[in-house]
Amino acid sequence: MKSLGPVNALYPMPVTLVGATVNGKPNFLAVAHVGIMNHGTPQFLSVGLNASHYTNAGIHQNGTFSICLPSENLMVETDYCGIMTGKNTDKASLFDVFYGGLGTAPMIRECPVCMELKLKDVHTYGSHEIFVGELVETFVQEPVLTGDRIDLAKVKPLIFDMASHNYWSLGNAVGQCWGEGKALKKKTV
Ligand SMILES: Cc1cc2nc3c(=O)[nH]c(=O)nc-3n(C[C@H](O)[C@H](O)[C@H](O)COP(=O)(O)O)c2cc1C
Repeated sequence: MKSLGPVNALYPMPVTLVGATVNGKPNFLAVAHVGIMNHGTPQFLSVGLNASHYTNAGIHQNGTFSICLPSENLMVETDYCGIMTGKNTDKASLFDVFYGGLGTAPMIRECPVCMELKLKDVHTYGSHEIFVGELVETFVQEPVLTGDRIDLAKVKPLIFDMASHNYWSLGNAVGQCWGEGKALKKKTV
């Protein structure tokens, strides 16, 4: 094995559009550094934002934010939200913006899945602020559901890789979680 030094190799990650109301107006930025803090209810999710970004102030101001999942067909708009700043650009005008019960977490109707969060904690790691939010509500376009479950094959999430700086698309399911290991378990137990 070749040693690379401390290269973060924890990719791929989904690209998301994180929304907040900044100085009274909706703003969105592209964010790939998202996290799942726990599994259960309440559910806590995190987003890691460079402290220099315009959006951060809005999350502090209102104590709310959103995380939307764009599909592959929103690649151009998503990338635009990742190269332009709300300091001097109205990125929200690209989208049909809607709000849920929190009232200040803007979401994007064109995204198949959007989540609305209430700010729980902020942690600072070097140049970044990690906003941890409690998931309050999830909105989904009905066509991406199979039964009552979100179907990734229909969502077609946009996938981010830092090493290649490419957007990727999701491949096919290759097996069942909590299932495929059972064949080996039979041999070992
Ligand atoms: C694909 C992609 C992923 C990104 N992921 C992050 C991220 O996880 N955290 C971050 O702080 N910035 C990330 N960025 C950069 C911000 O989206 C970008 O700097 C944006 O212009 C900030 O917008 P704002 O100033 O309106 O808040 C990403 C950009 C791209 C293109």
